[in-house]
Amino acid sequence: MKKAIYPGSFDPVTYGHIDIIRRASDIFDELIIAVLNNTAKTPLFSAEERVNMLEEATQQMPNVKVDYFSGLLIDYAAERDIRVSVRGLRAITDFEYELQNAQTNRMLSQGFLDTVFLTTSLEYAYLSSTSVREIASFHGDVSQCVPDFVAEKLYQKYGY
Ligand code: PNS
Repeated sequence: MKKAIYPGSFDPVTYGHIDIIRRASDIFDELIIAVLNNTAKTPLFSAEERVNMLEEATQQMPNVKVDYFSGLLIDYAAERDIRVSVRGLRAITDFEYELQNAQTNRMLSQGFLDTVFLTTSLEYAYLSSTSVREIASFHGDVSQCVPDFVAEKLYQKYGY
């Protein structure tokens, strides 16, 4: 059984993430979405809120599970005997950071954890959680970026 992890902050989940999740879940038998619970950063949504939103977004995908992790991704992967991490690549600007992370994970795990990149579908190439938060903070329309239930939660966070 081929398992993979899709790690990320998902603050919040966007249509770009959902596109990668759908495609990765077609390729692998089981996909675990691992939400980073990083105490050094202050996300807009708590780890629990991000997990809940991802569970709602993936409820029609039976081979997708959602979890959260803190610490190193390689430790989380090794505990579950998972050797593949999935990441989405939007543009050349993502490449350097993603290449560094992938190589660091290979080095740290002594080759145990590899990274598979899926190129983001063109219609979502511009999307990022950062821009979604910014648009929502100025009460802009995020309906083309995130599912309605996520937009609703963003609007609640920003007080309208
Ligand atoms: O959605 P993001 O914020 O781009 O995701 C980044 C993430 C969570 C994949 C990355 O920061 C990560 O794996 N962090 C866990 C700590 C770790 O393992 N660091 C070593 C790799 S550089």
